[in-house]
Parts: sequence; C-alpha cells; structure tokens
Amino acid sequence: MPASQRIHARELAPSILAADLLRLEAQLSEVLAAGARVIHVDVMDGHFVPPITFGPNVVSAIAERVHAAGAIVDVHLMIERPERLVGDFASAGADSITVHFEATPHVHYALQRVREAGCTAGAALCPATPAAVLADAAADGVLDLALCMSVNPGWGNQRLIGHSYAKLGELRRMLPSGVAVEVDGGVDAATAPRVAQAGANLLVAGTAVFAAADPAAAFQALAQAAWPVS
Ligand code: DX5
Ligand code: ZN
Repeated sequence: MPASQRIHARELAPSILAADLLRLEAQLSEVLAAGARVIHVDVMDGHFVPPITFGPNVVSAIAERVHAAGAIVDVHLMIERPERLVGDFASAGADSITVHFEATPHVHYALQRVREAGCTAGAALCPATPAAVLADAAADGVLDLALCMSVNPGWGNQRLIGHSYAKLGELRRMLPSGVAVEVDGGVDAATAPRVAQAGANLLVAGTAVFAAADPAAAFQALAQAAWPVS
C-alpha cells in the first residue's frame, strides 16, 4: 500500500526513538513481524528542540528493511527551517515527511517541497499551537497529514497533555477527510483508545512499545486497546 493510502489507515506507528539502537535491526524486525506498517523516525536538531537524534543516514539505513515488509517510513522533522532538508530525507527513503508549523515561516512552501519530493506532506503542531492554523494549508490542498503533539516535542516517555483529546477532535472536524490525523506523545494502553476515539487514525508510540520486555506483544496489545476487535 503506498504512503498516500497508508497514512489514512488505522495504524500504530512505533517510534524508534525508544528502541535499543544497538539492536535496531532486530527491534525493527520484531515490530514489523507483529504487524507495524508505519515506522516513525524522530529527527531532532539541537535547536528547534534541545536533543540531537537521527539524520538522513539513519532513514537510509532502515528504509529498505521497512519497505520490504510493506511498511512506510514516517519522518517527523523537529528541526528549524525543515524545507532545507526535505530533499535529503526523501532521497534517503522517507515516505511521509512532517514539518513543524513553528519551525518555519514558510509552512505552505515546505509542504509543497515535501510533495514535490514525492512524499506525503504533514504539518505538526506543538501543544500550545491551535488547530486552526492548519485551515488554510488544508483548504489549499497542500496538506496530507496533521500531527498533533500530545507532549512537548524533544523527549519520549512523557505524560500525554489532557487538552490533546479536544484538539484531536477539533482537527478531525475541521480538516477534510483526505487529511490524516496523527497523535504523538504519551500514547499507552490507557490513552490509546481515547486518542483514537477523539479522531486520530495514526498513533505514534515509542516507550509503550520498545520499553516493553516484548515489543511485538506490546505492539499488538496497544493496537487492540486502540481499536478493539471483538
Ligand atoms: C517526541 C517524539 C515522539 C516520541 C514519543 O518529541 O516526537 O515521537 O518518540 O515517545 P513516547 O511514545 O515515549 O511518548
Ligand atoms: Zn515524533
């Protein structure tokens, strides 16, 4: 399934930020075998957010394995002026690229650059940024995905901020059905069903998957909690 369709499915997206990097290949294989079809990559530049994490070289290292399983690489750019690096991440094998609304004065242009690079285009909002700022980009048809940060970006293993439920609902009601809604931060067995009900179809989970003793089992239990199958 191409990224343009996959981002609209109900998917739990493991974030490799919480993976054991010494065993990244094995950990990826475990969650892919458990059914993960979206792998989330958190890119941090030490400026937009304090930590520094992964670059295009890491996307390039995992892309073939992810694609071979029929999954997509979902790149979340927590970097300033993301439009400058869109081409590098697309060439490295990203399928979906999300830029932060707060990281550039040229969000509309950045989204167009992502599309031109052949990827689905997402815009992320920090907790204090209102949902309404995405209305014009959505109306202009340059937005494929809205990412609602349910924690402050930069670190895993934080508690979900309570207002996120209302904001997800607002995004889902405001945006056309052709725009996917992703939630990122503090997703666990307790919050997953609530964010799914509030309107998110893509749920990012780092700690809840990779800090578990058995990431594959944790992945499946979390997906079942989000979208119960009787
Ligand atoms: C935070 C990152 C998240 C992070 C989520 O800035 O964008 O993707 O990995 O981690 P958990 O699931 O542990 O809250
Ligand atoms: Zn993320």
